Amino acid sequence: MHAPTLIARKREGEELSTEEIGWLVDGYVDGDVADYQMSAFAMAVFFKGMTAVETAALTMAMMRSGDVFQYPPGAPVVDKHSTGGIGDKVSLVLAPLVACAGCRVPMVSGRGLGITGGTLDKLEAIPGFRVGVSMDEAAEILSELNVVMMGQTDRFCPADKKLYALRDVTGTVPSIPLITASIMSKKMAESLDRLVLDVKYGTGAFMKTRELAQDLAEGMIAVGREMGVEVSAILNPMSEPTGRTVGNALEVIEALECLDGKGPEDLRNVVLDLSEIIAGVSRAELGAMLDDGTARRKFDAMVSRQGGNPDDLPRLVEIHKAPVIREVAAPHSGRVLAMDAGGIGQASLELGAGRAKAADPVDFAVGFDRLVKCGEDISHGDVIARIHARSEADAAKAEAALLAAAAIG
Ligand code: URA
Repeated sequence: MHAPTLIARKREGEELSTEEIGWLVDGYVDGDVADYQMSAFAMAVFFKGMTAVETAALTMAMMRSGDVFQYPPGAPVVDKHSTGGIGDKVSLVLAPLVACAGCRVPMVSGRGLGITGGTLDKLEAIPGFRVGVSMDEAAEILSELNVVMMGQTDRFCPADKKLYALRDVTGTVPSIPLITASIMSKKMAESLDRLVLDVKYGTGAFMKTRELAQDLAEGMIAVGREMGVEVSAILNPMSEPTGRTVGNALEVIEALECLDGKGPEDLRNVVLDLSEIIAGVSRAELGAMLDDGTARRKFDAMVSRQGGNPDDLPRLVEIHKAPVIREVAAPHSGRVLAMDAGGIGQASLELGAGRAKAADPVDFAVGFDRLVKCGEDISHGDVIARIHARSEADAAKAEAALLAAAAIG
């Protein structure tokens, strides 16, 4: 096979065979296919798309570029994937909860990039929590606790790691077949029985419209079916942040409230909507495991097993106290019509909670809490959010952004 010919054929919109796609991916990982060739291929895919069979072939090739999880026979192995949103701390609650329902949850998560946050950054706000566990150690933790939350190792889908970094700098991230293969290769490498997808759409999401989110969901379900995994999807609007917090430590604190049977209703609802699809137990039973402390005990056990100290959890507010905490007052009375997730995500990124480049550090302490929710009635002067910032100047900028993101009618 010949890389320039395959690239040219894709440029002309031809369908490549499973063998041809596999050859390209293997060659890319081995260094026989150059970065410039793979970026030309990614751009050809961006413009010409891929069939469902081609997308499944790309997913399979990327999955096979590294190790895949293997488990002894036992409880169903399940996971959820979110396409990323603002204030989305669902994984922190769902993984231990579904483990309590008797499933095994080997959750491999990502870091935040751009305006969307990442589960690994949130977990690292817990002092000592190790997300960098090997696949062997992950298997041990899973057999002890039914749950492990970790990052992608070097041996886990290396083709995706390399291709994603290339896409990031070549304008080829927003391609449905490439996103599908990237996400599904990692989820399929977890050797799942069941997967639920939380596909977000709106200003705070990758997919700006419901139609695009639907296309992505259908693509991922089709790939899952080709690979023999039961995949379901829920489309969730990301027009306002999930819950009332945005920012790493602030989101962990809110996730702990949900694990204690409290916290915002929208967060609990998304957790239960997604969990009941994969857990195989009823919504009422799952709700009871949040309310009676079962899920919280599982989370604490996982923290302890992965290097953290559960006694630190109630103290996260003090551990990560930002130097400036500023209340934002409602400029007038009325109903909250919008809290634009995209605008709040951008403001949170500028406070330092997110990263512009993959190698940037994140600030655990900064962000927003006490955010009002759409539909709430508020009076002039009520607090519509609190800003946690490194400096007064940062807080002033975030306040302007928050007021621009809020619509009060
Ligand atoms: N998340 C991924 O893991 N890959 C993509 O391509 C986009 C989002």
